[in-house]
Amino acid sequence: MSKTAQEVLKRKTGRVEMRNIVKCFPGVRANSQVCFDVDPGEVHALLGENGAGKSTLMRQLYGMYRPDEGEIIIDGVPTSFRSPADAISAGIGMIHQHFMLVPTLTVAQNVALGQASSRGPLLDLKVVTARIIELAEEYGLKVDPEAFVWQLSVGEQQRIEILKALYRGAGLIILDEPTAVLTPQEVEDLFKTFRRMVAEGHSLIFISHKLNEVLAISDRITVLRDGKVIGTRAAKDVSRSELVGMMVGREIKALDPRPREAGVELLRVEDLHAMGDRGMEALCGVSFAVRSGEILGLAGVSGNGQRELDECLAGMRKSSGGKVLYKGRDISHCTLNERVDAGMAYIPEERMRDGAIREFSVQENVFLHDHESPEFRHGIFLDFAKMRSHAEALVHDFAVKTPSLDTPIKNLSGGNIQKLIMARELSRKPGFLVAAQPTRGVDIGASEYIHQRLLEQREAGTGILLVSEDLDEIMGLSDRIAIMYEGRIMGILDRGQASVEQIGFMMAGVEMGEALSAR
Ligand SMILES: Nc1ncnc2c1ncn2[C@@H]1O[C@H](COP(=O)(O)OP(=O)(O)OP(=O)(O)O)[C@@H](O)[C@H]1O
Ligand SMILES: [Mg+2]
Repeated sequence: MSKTAQEVLKRKTGRVEMRNIVKCFPGVRANSQVCFDVDPGEVHALLGENGAGKSTLMRQLYGMYRPDEGEIIIDGVPTSFRSPADAISAGIGMIHQHFMLVPTLTVAQNVALGQASSRGPLLDLKVVTARIIELAEEYGLKVDPEAFVWQLSVGEQQRIEILKALYRGAGLIILDEPTAVLTPQEVEDLFKTFRRMVAEGHSLIFISHKLNEVLAISDRITVLRDGKVIGTRAAKDVSRSELVGMMVGREIKALDPRPREAGVELLRVEDLHAMGDRGMEALCGVSFAVRSGEILGLAGVSGNGQRELDECLAGMRKSSGGKVLYKGRDISHCTLNERVDAGMAYIPEERMRDGAIREFSVQENVFLHDHESPEFRHGIFLDFAKMRSHAEALVHDFAVKTPSLDTPIKNLSGGNIQKLIMARELSRKPGFLVAAQPTRGVDIGASEYIHQRLLEQREAGTGILLVSEDLDEIMGLSDRIAIMYEGRIMGILDRGQASVEQIGFMMAGVEMGEALSAR
């Protein structure tokens, strides 16, 4: 790339322009004549449904893909990146939708990774650590350079990714759905960091499915649909509903679940204890019950034991005390497969890690657990035709965007992978479902669809534990709401018994009596 372009971005003043970008994959035109630009010190948001082409556009700006057609112009100079290394040296950084840190290395080692070093690695690490502390201070990012990445929460991992970009001197930082995995408090902190970055002259490209966030932080908003730009608006001149219209092309209905008599008790958790990954007790005596035809919402800021609880319920983490009963039977020591056979289903929070195999095709992922099922067998043979039509139906019903059933799922957009796993789990018609953050990373239209499907399951008598940080989702769907804080249930309330604020207090550790008397 040209020297001038490099120098310009290092000074954090570059205007970045993408002109008439076309990018095709087998069977998909992911970007079609896209024009997009970012001014110095600007936050420009990219909006669009799952598969609209947002990540693809950004991966070209970051040198991961080459455009089929079109130009990338940095401060008036046409450039062509052969790899992310070129983009990085031009001052562009990218925080990916799915993080790319090495879990077995420390924070400092990850930041140093891939940096040219003139001295020995040991000496360098000290320098890196010092610089990390300096940058963390400057941008208000809390991190421990010596921690191992596997010990970190997603929020912490993300801060490391941001630090890594800042460390490499990025003037323009692309953030691909950075808030999808964060708690409301973490989002607030992240936005504070964004504001500091902008004040320092950085530009940001921000991708999110959450309109409130996009409206709160952006200067301009560009909407993509089916690979094309629908329009670019100044954030101060555009309304929520106008954006939804541009993205989806139709109105989105609000949730309105009918009150329903809950049935027999399905799941009972009694005084459950479990250790967390960092050697501390993550579940300190959790008890609750879920009945048939009922949604129990589990509200709480993430990191308060929800993940450990989900994993204990799925049989993926050992409990250190207490019991889990399903239909009266003690399943505390059953494996995931035994629980699935008993009629439980599990939509994991870390779907990319626990719910799917990236190299496998769409159809193979649909049958990840069910290839043994008699429903898809013909004597001793697999009934391929039936498997195919089942997979086709799921892809159709959940509007999973994929060129074919044989496409490896790593080629699908992030939200479409989520939808596929959701489709698979719900299609099993489970007796009991644990749904962890079911709409995280999923676009507005698909969220609405998933909510409707959860309510349908409830109508059909399934008991559902809905674990979510999204209070609107919890309040909109749950019959009862349990609030979790520091490995304990602070209280269980009926729907409508408490306001968002009161639940918010309990999420912060305020006792139920006190929270309910607060106004
Ligand atoms: N490496 C690839 N190979 C084949 N197809 C791809 C590849 N990357 C993306 N696609 C396809 O290009 C289209 C756009 O995908 P992209 O990931 O850019 O969407 P997105 O807007 O980021 O969606 P999401 O909100 O779900 O993350 C999709 O149809 C996707 O399946
Ligand atoms: Mg994406």
